[in-house]
Amino acid sequence: MKTIEEQILELKKQHGAVILAHNYQLDEVQAIADFTGDSLELSRKAANLSEDVVVFCGVHFMAETAAILSPDKTILIPDPNAGCPMADMVTAEQLRAVKAEHPGAKVVCYVNSSAEVKAESDICCTSSNAVKVCESLGNEQIIFVPDRNLGSFVAEKLNRKIVLYNGFCPTHERIRDVDVIAMKQKYPGAVVMAHPECSKPVRDLADELLSTGQMCHYAQASEKTEFIVATELGINYRLRNENPGKKFYPANPDRAVCPNMKKITLEKVLWSLQGMKERVTVPPDIAERAVGCIQRMLEI
Ligand code: 13P
Ligand code: SF4
Repeated sequence: MKTIEEQILELKKQHGAVILAHNYQLDEVQAIADFTGDSLELSRKAANLSEDVVVFCGVHFMAETAAILSPDKTILIPDPNAGCPMADMVTAEQLRAVKAEHPGAKVVCYVNSSAEVKAESDICCTSSNAVKVCESLGNEQIIFVPDRNLGSFVAEKLNRKIVLYNGFCPTHERIRDVDVIAMKQKYPGAVVMAHPECSKPVRDLADELLSTGQMCHYAQASEKTEFIVATELGINYRLRNENPGKKFYPANPDRAVCPNMKKITLEKVLWSLQGMKERVTVPPDIAERAVGCIQRMLEI
């Protein structure tokens, strides 16, 4: 009997499909993926694919972004219930209400948002380019949705006021400053890499604030050999594989798990390819309004 991995590879070939995976996916899902990356790397990849079928191993907004960028391709998500609680914290209606309070302000939306919210926004960003994206708007007043942590990180970096929305990532907020302090005491020589979705007390303890893709590049380029990693646990698979001589210590191995990212299993990837399910589509009127917001980011 063929292994599940062999069956996936066979069907992938048969359908001319490509498997994309986010850095937080289960180890075995990352292992069968053709490309693993952070949100920006996956968006760029999705915009330039030659394959017609994409199995997107990540959460729903990521597959939706791929569907907006490549409306003629078949974008599949192995579990349509893999959502992002932070993305669900702002609706288009709520965003319109904030816009009405700040007429003329430019809206920067984190890619962790729905297509409807992107359609109401001026430009999108990810954690790796949020500072550059906001900088590109010059002195314009900025509304940043939905992540209050990434938004305040940008405001601190640029030393300017930004209208923040009160969204957050439950997984990153579960990583506490006391966790990082305890790990720093245990491994005093380690570099602390934290994701900007972490709360301010955690961010203030970090040596480097980086997206998941930037963490991978930073760890490879660094001469240091020990790292405390304050983000979702899935990232450690890549960090350890790509840096066999280096040590990576999760800031909190019990709490930093995103249950939605973990909904994608190998069995569901196989099911997805067997039935060409679940197809992610965006209504054309919303996609037409949202695409500019994503493309403006990709041009930066
Ligand atoms: P990045 O991989 O872009 O850093 O994003 C982190 C995240 O939380 C995605 O949901
Ligand atoms: Fe959303 Fe946080 Fe999970 Fe990323 S890690 S998908 S931001 S809940």
